Amino acid sequence: MQILDGNLVSKATKEALTLKVAQLKAQGKKVPHLAAVLVGNNGASETYVGAKVKACEEIGYKSTLLRYDDDISEFKLLEAIEGLNNDPDVDGILVQLPLPKHISDEKVINTIAASKDVDGFHPISVGKMVQGLSTFIPATPYGIMLLLKHYNIDTAGKQAVVIGRSNIVGRPMSILLSANTNPGNCTVTICHSHTKNLKELCLSADIIVAALGRPEFVKEDMVKEGAIVIDVGISRVPDATKKKGFALKGDVNFAEVSPKCSFITPVPGGVGPMTIAALMQNTYKACEDKNV
Ligand code: GUN
Repeated sequence: MQILDGNLVSKATKEALTLKVAQLKAQGKKVPHLAAVLVGNNGASETYVGAKVKACEEIGYKSTLLRYDDDISEFKLLEAIEGLNNDPDVDGILVQLPLPKHISDEKVINTIAASKDVDGFHPISVGKMVQGLSTFIPATPYGIMLLLKHYNIDTAGKQAVVIGRSNIVGRPMSILLSANTNPGNCTVTICHSHTKNLKELCLSADIIVAALGRPEFVKEDMVKEGAIVIDVGISRVPDATKKKGFALKGDVNFAEVSPKCSFITPVPGGVGPMTIAALMQNTYKACEDKNV
């Protein structure tokens, strides 16, 4: 069993970007600028946005964090996004999800200029991804593809099961794994809450991507010997023995499942850091398209 070390690969990816940014600076060119928008004070969202801003600082990108109370009107938020769309210095815009219930995710995502959509959630980005065209790829599935690539994992012809059909992870993951790329070329089954024979499907899978957000859902009896298991879940489970009062749990029971795997991602230290690295790649791309 080999661990797919997201911390290591993320660090290498960020170091490569740091060099490229230093070159841009030396040439007097524009440095990537990411604007992150955070509404309310959801603890997990604060952590994620904080990590994204910190990664920008490490690499040498410019970053702007716009914070709003959770009672901001949808109109005001859309206006703020328009402001970022019209700011020529801002290359990438990210609005952290989830948003308060009175704000439409769809309206927010559709308002972000497709050329600055570093999350890859805009319908134009999604459409291009489905067609295999160059675009922004949602950071979590993109990070997983970068991780598979780094470890030279041959996925062609493999049976992949993706558990979860969210627009952020499961759905784009299924598209990328089935694309005619390397990694890619998998035969993909996408599973969700209505799937009847989930256990059998998982048992037949060479690759399992668990992205349903249920702690330790994938158990030893669902995984075949030699499988590659990618754990996207990161749930906060109450734990009085921890300093913060919670433990982080993946969607896979790591202790049970890992001995059966050829490769597995840990939680934390697997997919999470790769998500940040992939976002940083997308932000570089957003600026690169302007620098040419
Ligand atoms: N919430 C959970 N994942 C993500 C992500 O990748 N991007 C944004 N904007 N919000 C998220």
